[in-house]
Amino acid sequence: MWQAMTTAKRETSAPSFVIALDGPAASGKGTLARRLARHFGYAHLDTGLIYRAVGMKLARAGEDPSDVARATAVSLGLVAADLDAPDLRGDEAADAASKVAVIPGVRAALLAFQQNFAAHPPGGAAGAVLDGRDIGTVVCPGAQAKLYVTASAEIRAERRLKELREIGVGAIYARVLQDLKERDARDRGRDTAPLAQASDAFVLDTSALDADQAFAAALAFIETRNRADRA
Ligand code: C5P
Repeated sequence: MWQAMTTAKRETSAPSFVIALDGPAASGKGTLARRLARHFGYAHLDTGLIYRAVGMKLARAGEDPSDVARATAVSLGLVAADLDAPDLRGDEAADAASKVAVIPGVRAALLAFQQNFAAHPPGGAAGAVLDGRDIGTVVCPGAQAKLYVTASAEIRAERRLKELREIGVGAIYARVLQDLKERDARDRGRDTAPLAQASDAFVLDTSALDADQAFAAALAFIETRNRADRA
């Protein structure tokens, strides 16, 4: 699969400009990543979706996402169409994703695809924006621009609640907050590629920023990296 998704090589030999966005759940990094990719004409990869696809293949079949052998086998056999499944955005998928994501064999199976996407963005794009948990630290440690997008757990829970209500999912704040905290703890505490801020990342705390302000701050930082890259 993974090769088939990245066969469109860029026509120039200049290295791809890679923007790495990491951060905890509901920090706003997904929205920001999509907007940055659109602004620069770069390809975008939501790496969480890959882990969600693996987790949901198991959950749908009534299997345990924590089963190391099964989760590893599923991640090795993932195909592009698996990322289009309609049930990947919900909380069940998020939970299953964070369970398969602690398994080193799963992470190893998914690493080459992500790195290939960054080095050879599909569609011949001159760069790629990847968002996730370990992009600046493990997947693309050489990324030209790294951002760590964060916000307080309470603000993130409020944003998540609003999103859920907008898609018609009834949820209560206390439960959303607890789920977020549990997922954060699992993502930060795992041994392999935990959620962490790269030492050279620009920290963007969006607690007091709206989407436009977060975008403007990210853009200002990336422009400085762009200039440094060209110098
Ligand atoms: O970003 P999103 O909420 O879709 O990610 C779902 C889960 O997938 C995360 O909680 C995390 O456990 C896992 N993940 C990861 N590494 C990434 C992206 C996501 O471990 N690069």
